[in-house]
Amino acid sequence: MADQVLVEVKDRVMWIRINRPEKKNALTGAMYTAMSDAIAQACNDAAVRAVLITGTQDCFTAGNDLVDFANAKPGGPAPAVTFLQTISTAPKPVIAAVSGVAVGIGTTMLLHCDLVYAGATAKFHLPFVNLGLCAEGGSSLLLPAMLGQRRAAELLLLGDPFGPEAAKEFGIVNQVFPDADLWASAGAKAQQLAEKPPAAMRATKALLKSHTSAAVAETMLREGQQFGALLQGPEAKEAMMAFMERRKPDFSKF
Ligand code: COA
Repeated sequence: MADQVLVEVKDRVMWIRINRPEKKNALTGAMYTAMSDAIAQACNDAAVRAVLITGTQDCFTAGNDLVDFANAKPGGPAPAVTFLQTISTAPKPVIAAVSGVAVGIGTTMLLHCDLVYAGATAKFHLPFVNLGLCAEGGSSLLLPAMLGQRRAAELLLLGDPFGPEAAKEFGIVNQVFPDADLWASAGAKAQQLAEKPPAAMRATKALLKSHTSAAVAETMLREGQQFGALLQGPEAKEAMMAFMERRKPDFSKF
């Protein structure tokens, strides 16, 4: 498991690399925990000034592991929830560099990052409804606030993928780089942040988040309750089975 999330501190920037390419970097409970622990460690270590999250060359993450979703038990502390709480409340700047697909939480985690960069072939996708689930990660609040109700509904209800230029227009992504330059360019931005005065950085980040932090926490709680219930329901079971059996789900019977 240790090498499915690679953590390295370089020049006061903590790089967190999601590294499970054989499963398109799908996130398991252990991987969420490793990422939460790394962010917490970065925030408690004065020598770390910024966090940069990446995936592998052709994939950011395919989102939550669908086998884990299929086997999820009702209730209980979910590592994904802890991860979302950790990233959404991190006092130090968090940057994401997205190459390839960013599905589900792969896109919603970006809404909590301070700066987001994408490769030219990145692809974003919020297929929660397609999976018999609902919006999570505060996305039912943050997306309408960023994009407006119509476009947020398009992304969350239709659940069609969108590219990096659309993500930039929506305000999800700051800048699009050629794939080959992405990590170096995002790394340079992280370095730029790491060289700034840390208390001023933390105060400014806290002020930027102060307008939405309570509402985000409350929304994540409400989303989590519905998401947990839907995950145990027949629509999600059909969607997960269909993914594993590599067939189209059939929701006509519901
Ligand atoms: N959970 C578990 N395994 C996953 C996964 C996920 N979220 N996404 C991909 N994988 C696995 C596939 O089962 C496959 O495993 P196998 O080789 O053992 O059969 C492997 O990763 C490669 O996936 P594949 O679908 O063949 O790659 P692709 O390039 O054709 O498509 C995706 C990539 C990401 C578009 C596609 O895998 C996908 O849609 N995944 C599901 C994404 C999703 O719905 N996530 C949950 C969001 S809430």
